[in-house]
Amino acid sequence: MSEPLRIAVLKERASGETRVSATPETVKKFIALGAVVAVEAGAGTGASISDAEYEAAGAQVSKGALTGADIVLGVQGPEPKALSGARAGAWIVASLDPFSQRARIDAYAELGMEALAMEFMPRITRAQSMDILSSQSNLSGYKAVIEAANVYGRAFPMMMTAAGTVSAAKAFVMGVGVAGLQAIATARRLGAQVSATDVRSATKEQIMSLGAKPIFVENVAGIEGEGAGGYATEMSDEYQKAQAELVSAHIAKQDIVITTALIPGRAAPRLITDAQIATMKPGSVIFDLAVAQGGNVEGSVPDEIVVKHGVKIMGYSNTPAHLAADASALFSRNLYNFLSAFWDKETGRPVLDEEIGEAVRLTKDGKVVSARLLG
Ligand code: NAI
Repeated sequence: MSEPLRIAVLKERASGETRVSATPETVKKFIALGAVVAVEAGAGTGASISDAEYEAAGAQVSKGALTGADIVLGVQGPEPKALSGARAGAWIVASLDPFSQRARIDAYAELGMEALAMEFMPRITRAQSMDILSSQSNLSGYKAVIEAANVYGRAFPMMMTAAGTVSAAKAFVMGVGVAGLQAIATARRLGAQVSATDVRSATKEQIMSLGAKPIFVENVAGIEGEGAGGYATEMSDEYQKAQAELVSAHIAKQDIVITTALIPGRAAPRLITDAQIATMKPGSVIFDLAVAQGGNVEGSVPDEIVVKHGVKIMGYSNTPAHLAADASALFSRNLYNFLSAFWDKETGRPVLDEEIGEAVRLTKDGKVVSARLLG
């Protein structure tokens, strides 16, 4: 057998990024497959993992972890200049933000690297355990509710006390994908009265099965069934108008609103206008989970609490980074599940199949090869 495959684990350099792309658990598993794992010193600090824990798992910890790397693991795409030392043809496996980071992707191609964008993982059953969007959205949906509850000046559950009754908060979740479902479940657990909406009619049953009330545009066609890969597309003007009217009537009665609506490759749809915010009760809280993609809510600013008409509007540029330990554990398992599923025992390295390889591969042999980037 040839030399063992070398996997390098990067220390994230983007501001506010606290996650790490391998944990001691996944390091051990890669080593069990026959790989050598090198971790950049301090890579786990933001996720409360010490260098000593990586060493105990069998990793080499140093500043020059990239030297001779065949596979570079990251949470976000590394700056191309941070990749010197990796082998020609080495893989970069990370969340590469391909539509916004095109210059960086071109630079990976020029370096001769094979960049694999984990957010392009196809939504097929066998890839569920490799899906970083799902694992990170799930935690984001939870965190959005917790953070909104934290700045809300009232309680979530109904409480009967000797001094009188505290009424339950009314929470409304807009966009019921992975994050929205978790937001519904979390708000319910905290005792709120929960309602939710989406453009995909398949979510109606999911909302009800979580004990929440579906709020749907009835007279204009939405997206029947699941849509391509389960994703939403941009809606007609007629639908958007009907949705705005429905939301206006409902939102005025809400205390907490969590928005999660995204359309792949486009700016997030605008779901709440300033005029609608003006109808809400002062003290209400809106958490905009799409704030980093342009925002679902007019006036939301990443990492700030903006107060408009007495309503607090908030959202993080990187929500999973606020739960670094769990987000890292799930992200790392996604990467391990991906690479190990394709492990070729003969050569001791992964060999991707056509379906998943073509979906995630952005660059190869000096060129950009992704149909989604070229098309
Ligand atoms: P997403 O993050 O792309 O969008 C969030 C939600 O916003 C979606 O439910 C979408 O329909 C909704 N939305 C978009 N525009 C809207 C608008 N104008 N108004 C209201 N809502 C709007 O979605 P996510 O979380 O990635 O999930 C989408 C679907 O994919 C789900 O059904 C999920 O179960 C499925 N899925 C399948 C996987 C697999 O089979 N491997 C993995 C992950 C998700």
